[in-house]
Amino acid sequence: MSAPVRPRLALVLGVLCCFPRSWVSCVPACRVHIPPHDQVARVARFVTHLCDWASLATVATRAPVEGQPFSNVFSISDGPELQSSGVPYLYLTPMEISVQDLQVSPVSSLSMSLAQTDFCRDSGYDPQSPLCAHVILSGSVLQINGSEADFAKKALFSRHPEMMDWPHDHGWFFAKFNITLVWVLDYFGGVKTVSPEEYFQASPEYNRKYWPSTGSTGPQQEVRVLNRKYRP
Ligand SMILES: *[C@@H]1O[C@H](CO)[C@@H](O)[C@H](O)[C@H]1NC(C)=O
Ligand SMILES: *[C@@H]1O[C@H](CO)[C@@H](O)[C@H](O)[C@H]1NC(C)=O
Repeated sequence: MSAPVRPRLALVLGVLCCFPRSWVSCVPACRVHIPPHDQVARVARFVTHLCDWASLATVATRAPVEGQPFSNVFSISDGPELQSSGVPYLYLTPMEISVQDLQVSPVSSLSMSLAQTDFCRDSGYDPQSPLCAHVILSGSVLQINGSEADFAKKALFSRHPEMMDWPHDHGWFFAKFNITLVWVLDYFGGVKTVSPEEYFQASPEYNRKYWPSTGSTGPQQEVRVLNRKYRP
C-alpha cells in the first residue's frame, strides 16, 4: 500500500465507525474516543449509555442470606440509540428474585463496565483495571408510570426486542434506577464521585463503535432483532 493511500483508508474506516451498527460492522482498528478521564460526569454518561445490561445489588430478603448483598444481572437502557437520558430503565416482574428484595427495600446499587463492550478487550485493559472505565450507581429502584414509562418502554424495547415477547401474565412493569450518587473508576488514583446534578448536566456521548453488538448474542438473535424492530 502506498503511503498516501493509508491516511485515506484510515479516514474511511473512521467514517465507517460513525454509522449505526446495523449498517456496517466496524473493523477492530476503529478506536472509541471515550471522554477525557478527568471529565468524570461525561465518562459516567458514556458508560451508562453504552451498556445494555448491569449488575444490580439488593439487600437479600430470602433465606439463608437475609440481610446480605445479593447481585443479579438485568437488562437496562437509558434511552434508544442516540437518545441517552442518563437514567437506567428496567423492565421488571414481581416474580423476579431481586424484585422481591426491592419490594422490601428499593435501596440498591447498579454497576456497569466498558468490559461489557469491546473497548477494554481492544485496548488491552483487564476488567478490574481502572482504565477499563466502570461506574457504580447508588440509589433505589422505583416504579414509573405515565410519560416516563412510555419513554422507558421505547428505551428498553428498542435495545432488547425480545422483551416484547416476555410472558404477558408475569405482571411486568417499568422502573427506573433513581440515582443518588455516581461512583466512577476511569483512571488511577482512586474512585471519584459525581452528584446526580453534575451527571445529568453532562452531555451524552455517542460512539457507534462500542455500542453493544447484538452479534455477540448470535446470528439467530440478530435476525430476530431485525425482524422484531420495536416501533413505538
Ligand atoms: C404506578 O401505577 C401502579 C399501578 O397502577 C401503582 O401501583 C403505582 O403506585 C404507580 N406508581 C407511581 C410512581 O405512580
Ligand atoms: C431520587 O434521587 C434524588 C437525587 O437524584 C433524591 O433527591 C431523591 O430523594 C430520590 N428519591 C427516592 C424516592 O429515593
